[in-house]
Amino acid sequence: MSTDGFGTVAQAFAPEALGTAVRLRGWVLRTRSSGGILFVVLRDRTGSVQVTGRRDALGPEAFDAAEHVQVEGAVEVEGTVAEDRRAPGGREVRASAIHVVHAGEPFPIFTDQTEEFRLDHRHLVVRSQEHVATFRVKAELLRALREFLDREEILEMTPPVLSGNAAEGGAEAFQIDYFGRPGYLSQTAQLYLEALLFPNERVYALTPSFRAEKSRTPRHLTEYLHLEVELAWCDLAKLLEFEEKMVVDVLHTVADRRPAELRALGRPPEELARLQVPFARITYAEAIDRLAAQGFPVRWGSDLGTAEERALTVEEPTPLFVTKFPKELKAFYMLRSPEDPRTVEAADLLAPEGYGEMIGGSCRETDLARLTERLRETGADLGEYAWYLDLRRHGSVPHAGFGLGIERILRWVLRREHIRETTPFPRTPSRHTP
Ligand code: 4AD
Ligand code: MG
Repeated sequence: MSTDGFGTVAQAFAPEALGTAVRLRGWVLRTRSSGGILFVVLRDRTGSVQVTGRRDALGPEAFDAAEHVQVEGAVEVEGTVAEDRRAPGGREVRASAIHVVHAGEPFPIFTDQTEEFRLDHRHLVVRSQEHVATFRVKAELLRALREFLDREEILEMTPPVLSGNAAEGGAEAFQIDYFGRPGYLSQTAQLYLEALLFPNERVYALTPSFRAEKSRTPRHLTEYLHLEVELAWCDLAKLLEFEEKMVVDVLHTVADRRPAELRALGRPPEELARLQVPFARITYAEAIDRLAAQGFPVRWGSDLGTAEERALTVEEPTPLFVTKFPKELKAFYMLRSPEDPRTVEAADLLAPEGYGEMIGGSCRETDLARLTERLRETGADLGEYAWYLDLRRHGSVPHAGFGLGIERILRWVLRREHIRETTPFPRTPSRHTP
């Protein structure tokens, strides 16, 4: 990458940089001046450093211009790296020149502003240290996932996000006007991944998914990033082994590569590094018994909501699989359990510490007649699913897959109260701007 002769803040902190000349550029975190000396804290992508400039060294005009740079204004600095025990990190840059790139207007973001104000100004709030750390961890998580999937020889696919069918259930699909015909924003890439499975055996996609759920909860977004994997020749036991291996592997990598950011956000990296396979597994039936014993008004057939999922994991340091749900609670494509026709070969992976579902997975029904019957029971338009049903006519083999909500796993990893803090521009029922 061309640097035009500019170094970075991190380079200024290298041992050999002491006493050398540097050129830096970046944004102003804060400034103050006293007694003819200007103090600027300069930030670039690698960190921040104190810059000092004397009026006599910079010249009165440049000094006055630099003094008027606002928070988040942009400057270029030339100077010498010096030791200063009072400065953060023990170093400062003594400037011989400061060039104002953009002085800027007064920055409107402070601490203690209301959440609404901060959401309205999200385009500026994303400059906060908390957001910078969050999105570095998120990028590392995505990188670690892709590296893991690559090592497992899973091929990345690019399914569409615009579709003529609403895959996970019509009620929660965003409908759009597709040149006069109904279209939908994708809720899942699964059906397309199943088609792509047959020529490739092991596929994945990382795409946005959309849910038109009006649920105003701390764990629902209307647009989220969805990692979906589909594996041929896979049963429920193998699927869970794959999921837990993936989660442990990528969180170890993130702990290894982003310890400072994790610590700053309230998650000691050691806690992630300690995670081990296997995760505990309980059946839905066992979960219901456990919850009933705790006084929850649940019985066979009850859905597990936020409170129930929380109760199952609030004391747990590791994720928990809940398996074998009643078929009525789950999507039409799930395989009937061989030992019990009332349940399906499905598993949700619940995050520890009460954060709730982060992965939903299942074995897929491969029998054409049973799949058609299940679709009919859900009241779906069979015509819309004709192409999907066709997959069961040509070399239909046992297969399974899952979807991981990227913001859901991050919410747990970073201990965020609300899922919107894990995405730069959150989409919720009440907000789709900025
Ligand atoms: O459990 P879900 O609905 O499963 C599917 O969509 C399957 N077709 C996936 C598959 O097997 N390929 O969603 C999968 C995951 C959930 O476990 C959750 O982590 C996340 O997607 N998710 C959401 N994340 C944020 N906001 C929402 N509204 C979400 N809905 C689901
Ligand atoms: Mg689910």
